[in-house]
Amino acid sequence: MCGIFGCVLKDGKAAPIIHAALKRLEYRGYDSVGEATIYNGKLYIKKDRGKIEEVDKIHNLDDLPGNIGVGHTRWATHGAPLQVNAHPHLDCSEQIAIVHNGIIENFAELKLELENRGHVFKSKTDTEVAAHLIEEILKTNPSLSLADAVLEAVKRLDGSYALAVISPKEPNKMICARHESPLVVGINEKAIYCASDIPAFLPLTNKAVIIDDGELVTLSLEGFEIRKIADSSLVVREPKFIDWTPEMAVKQGYPHFMLKEIHEQPATLRNTLRLQEQYLDLMATFLDRAREVYLVACGTSYHACLAASYMFSKLAFLATYPVIASEFVEQHGKSVNIDSAILAVSQSGETADTLAAVNCARQRAATILGLTNVIGSTLTRVSRVYIGQQSGPEIGVAATKTFTSQLSVLAQLALRLAKKRGKISQDEMDYLAEKMEKLPDTVETIIQTQEENVKQIAKKYKDAKTFFFLGRGISTATAYEGRLKLMEIAYVPAIAFPAGESKHGPISLIEQGFPVVFICPKDETHKTIVGNIMEMKARGALIIAVIEKDDEEIKSLADDWIEMPKGIPEVLSPIPYIIPLQLLAYYMAVERGHNPDMPRNLAKSVTVK
Ligand code: G6P
Repeated sequence: MCGIFGCVLKDGKAAPIIHAALKRLEYRGYDSVGEATIYNGKLYIKKDRGKIEEVDKIHNLDDLPGNIGVGHTRWATHGAPLQVNAHPHLDCSEQIAIVHNGIIENFAELKLELENRGHVFKSKTDTEVAAHLIEEILKTNPSLSLADAVLEAVKRLDGSYALAVISPKEPNKMICARHESPLVVGINEKAIYCASDIPAFLPLTNKAVIIDDGELVTLSLEGFEIRKIADSSLVVREPKFIDWTPEMAVKQGYPHFMLKEIHEQPATLRNTLRLQEQYLDLMATFLDRAREVYLVACGTSYHACLAASYMFSKLAFLATYPVIASEFVEQHGKSVNIDSAILAVSQSGETADTLAAVNCARQRAATILGLTNVIGSTLTRVSRVYIGQQSGPEIGVAATKTFTSQLSVLAQLALRLAKKRGKISQDEMDYLAEKMEKLPDTVETIIQTQEENVKQIAKKYKDAKTFFFLGRGISTATAYEGRLKLMEIAYVPAIAFPAGESKHGPISLIEQGFPVVFICPKDETHKTIVGNIMEMKARGALIIAVIEKDDEEIKSLADDWIEMPKGIPEVLSPIPYIIPLQLLAYYMAVERGHNPDMPRNLAKSVTVK
C-alpha cells in the first residue's frame, strides 16, 4: 500500500500542497517520499528514503517550482526503501514522471523487453517500467497524446495500479488510471486533485469523484474527463459531496482502524496472490534442502506459523517446528546448525524476540528466511531470502490482515514445496490454486453475510467472564488466534487449546452458561469435534460454533452459529475461519466500552526482549 497525490492549480505552487497532502496519506506508507513538478517546460523532482518530515528536513520538499505536480509516499513492495527506488520514477529522456500504488505483476517481462529496446533502468521497482513503456509508445507513435499513450501503456500492465503521470510535453495535464488500487479525484474552483484516498484533499475540497477499475482520467484546469481503458469510451460522472470529518476520512468512514483493516482483507489477500514467483521458489528450495525447519515468531505471527506447520506437513510432507520466538534460544539454540533453516515471520520485521532467535541461528550458520510486511526492516536485512506479506501498514494494535496475508503467503509456499518434492498431484495442485484465487471473494462474502450475526452474538455474550476457543487439526491455530484477539482488545480472559485436550484438565472449568467457541470446518476432524461439543454441552456450556453452511448436525447442538461458505479446503480454512473471530473480538470490545485500536499495555511492535 502506498499513497499517491497530484494537483493542477490555477495559481500558486503545487509542491507545498502536495507535501501537506502526503502527510495526510502517510498512514498508507512511510518508508520513502517524493514529489515532481513541471515548470517552464522542465520536470523538477525531489525524493528520498525516510519519513516525510525526515526527507523534508534534508531536501525542503516545498521548494519545487510550478503549479502542477505529483507526489508519493511509499510502502516498499519491489525494491528496498532507497532513494533510487522512491517515486516519482522517470523515463530515459526525463519527460515523463509517474507515481504508482499497486503491484505490476508482469514488470520483469516488460523490463526485459524495454531493455532490449535500449531503455536504461535506474531502480529495482515495478513502477519504473510504466514510465519507460509510455516513453516507448510515444517514440513509436509521436502523434499520440499523453493520455492515449498512458491508455495504451496500462493495457499492457497485469496486476494492480493507481497511477498519475505528468509530462512537460503537455504541461497542463495529469493523466491517472486505476485497476484494483483506489483512486479519487477532488475538485474545487481553484484546482483539481487526484489521490489514493479522500483524506488527502479533504481540507481543500469535499467534492469528490470516485474513479472505478478500468478507467483513465485526464485532469486539467478545464476539469476532468473519464474514459474506459478497454474501449476509450467516455464516462459521465458527477462529483459527490463528502461529509466526513478528517478523522472519519482517515478511517474511510469506519469507526476504528481495526474494523477498517478487517474489511480490507479481501483486497490485501488479492495482493498476496501477486507474489513474485522466483522468491517463493527460492525459499521453497531452501526449505527443501534443510535438515530441520523452525517457524519462529511472536503473537499473531506465531499463530500463522502454527497453522503453516499443518500446511507444510499436509501438502509437502515436511515436518516443521513452530516456535514462540522468546523460547527459541533456550529450547532449540544449541541444536541449530548449518543444516537448519529458520523461517522468521514478523509483520514489523523488528520484534526483538524474533530477531534474537534469528541472531542466534545466524551465529550457528543456519539459513535465515524472512516473511514480513516491512521491506527494509531488520528482518529483511538479515534474511537470505525474504518475502513481503503485501498488506500495507496495519494501524490497529491487534493484528488482523497480518494473519490472513501471512497465511496466504505460507500456503503458497507450502504448495510450491509440495510441487518441488513431488508430493502433490497436478489435479490437487490446480484445485488448491483455484481455491486460493477465490479466497478474497470468500472472505468478502463472509464479511457481508456474517457481520451482523456476529455483532448480535457479541451483544448476547458481552458480560461473559471467560471463554474457551477450541479446534482440532489446523483449526487449533484459528482457535488460538481467535482467543488472542478477544483477550487483547475486549479484556476477556480466554483459554484456547486443541479440543482433544479438554478431558485432560480444562473441562473441569465448565459450568452452566460457560461460553465455548468451536471452530468446526467440515474436514477430517469434524466427527471428533462433534463429540467434543457434546461433552461440553452435557456440562452446561453454551456453544458458539463456526461451521460450514448447512451443517445441521452442529446446528442441532449449538446455541449460536456462524456459517461459512461451503467448499473451503481444510489447509486454507484458517484464512476465512478467523474472520468471524476477529469480528467477534471487535464487537465484544465495543460492547464492553473499550477502544479496540488502543488496547491497554500493548504495543504494535515490541522492540524489547
Ligand atoms: C505485538 C503485537 C501483536 C503482534 C506481535 C508480533 O505483540 O501487539 O499484534 O502479533 O507483536 O509482531 P510482529 O511484528 O513480529 O509480527
